[in-house]
Amino acid sequence: MNNLLITGGCGFIGSNFVRYWLAQHPESRVVVYDKLTYAGRKENLQDLWDLPNLSLVVGDIGDLDLVRRTCQEHGTDLIVNFAAETHVDQSILGPLVFTDTNVRGTHVLLEVARELCIRLHHISTDEVYGHIRDEHQSVETDELAPRSPYAASKAAADQLVQAYHITYGLPVTITRGANNVGPYQYPEKAVPLFSTNAILGEPLPVYGDGKQMRDYAHVYDHCTGIEAVLLRGNVGEVYNVGTGREMTNLEMVDIVLSALGKDHSLVRHVADRPGHDRRYSMNVDKLRSLGWEPKYDPRQAVAEAARWYAENRSWWEPIRSGEFREYYEKQYAERLAEGR
Ligand code: NAD
Ligand code: DAU
Repeated sequence: MNNLLITGGCGFIGSNFVRYWLAQHPESRVVVYDKLTYAGRKENLQDLWDLPNLSLVVGDIGDLDLVRRTCQEHGTDLIVNFAAETHVDQSILGPLVFTDTNVRGTHVLLEVARELCIRLHHISTDEVYGHIRDEHQSVETDELAPRSPYAASKAAADQLVQAYHITYGLPVTITRGANNVGPYQYPEKAVPLFSTNAILGEPLPVYGDGKQMRDYAHVYDHCTGIEAVLLRGNVGEVYNVGTGREMTNLEMVDIVLSALGKDHSLVRHVADRPGHDRRYSMNVDKLRSLGWEPKYDPRQAVAEAARWYAENRSWWEPIRSGEFREYYEKQYAERLAEGR
C-alpha cells in the first residue's frame, strides 16, 4: 500500500484524508485523481502540491482509459474512492449525474482494479441504510434501504463493490461514514452553510421542524477510521464510521450559534427536504474492534467546525460570492420568503 490513487482527493473528506495520510505515511506516493467539479478545489491541498510524492491528475472516474493509464503509469496498488456527487439536495434537483459518477464511475474503478489486480477501498455512507426507527443502530449486515437519489446511487455502488469481491475475489473494503464536519466542507452542507450564514448575519434555513437526527462526526475521526480499515480491516468487509451518538438538527444549530456568539433570531424554519430521512444512527463496534476510537464527540466536532469557518473566511467567501449564489437562490429563495 505504497502507491495510492485517491479519487475525489480535492473534495472535503478526500483532501483531509490526503493530508492525514501523507503526515502519517510520508513514504507513500499519492496520486489525487479528481474531476474538479464545483465541490473539488485544488486549493484545499495548496500547501502540499510541492511535495515530490503527491501529484494531481484531473479526470473523471468514469473515463476508463485515463483511470487505467494513470494506475499503470504510477504503479497503483490501492485505490481509495472518495469521488462522488455528494449533496442530497443537489440529487433532488438533478439526479442523473449521481448515477453517472457514483454508480458508473465506481464500476469503472472496479473494472480497472480487476484488470490490474489493485485493492480498492470504497467510501460509502450511513444514508444507504435509510432512516432508522426507534432505538435501532445500523449494523453492517443490515439491509440497504436508501431513500434519496444520492443514497440510492451510493447503495448501488456498495453492491457493485461487494459483487466484485464475491464474483472475482477482488480485494475490497467499504467504510460507511456518518455526517462529517470540519475544514474545507463546501458550504452547501448544513454545518458550513449555517456557520457561514451566521457569520454573514443571514438566516439559517432549518428544514421542517429541525428534529431530524444526525451523527455529526469530525472528519479527522473518519480519516483515522479509514486508515484503521486499510491497515487492519478484513478484505471483503464493511465498517461503519461515526461516533455512535446523534443529535437533532436544532441542537446542532444551537452549538453553531453559541460557538459563533450569535443568537436564535437568525433561525428560520423552512419547507422540508422531500423524502427527508428522519434519523441516522450507526453502531461502530466493528471498527472499534480494530482498535479505533473517535477523538471528538459530536458537540466538539460541530463547535470546532463552526469556528474554522469564522477563522478561514478567505477560503469560503469566494465560493459563496461566486457560482454558489445561483444554487443558493434556487434552493432557498422561495423557502426563506415563506419561512417562519
Ligand atoms: P465533496 O463533494 O466535498 O467532494 C467530492 C469530490 O469528488 C470533489 O473533489 C469532486 O471534484 C470529486 N468528483 C466528483 N465527481 C467526480 C468524477 N466523476 N470523477 C472524479 N472526481 C469527481 O464530497 P465529500 O463530502 O468529501 O465526500 C467524499 C466521499 O465520502 C463521497 O463518496 C461521499 O459519498 C462520502 N461520504 C460523505 C459524507 C459527508 O458527510 N460529507 C459522509 C459519509 C460519506
Ligand atoms: O450521513 C452522511 C451524509 O451526510 C453523506 O453521505 C452526504 O454526502 C452528506 O451530504 C450528508 O448528508 P445530509 O443530507 O445528512 O447532510 P446535510 O448537511 O445536507 O444536512 C444535514 C441535516 O441538516 C439534514 O437533516 C438536512 C438538514 N438541513 C440541511 C441543509 C443543507 C437543513 O435543515 N437545512 C439545510 O439548508
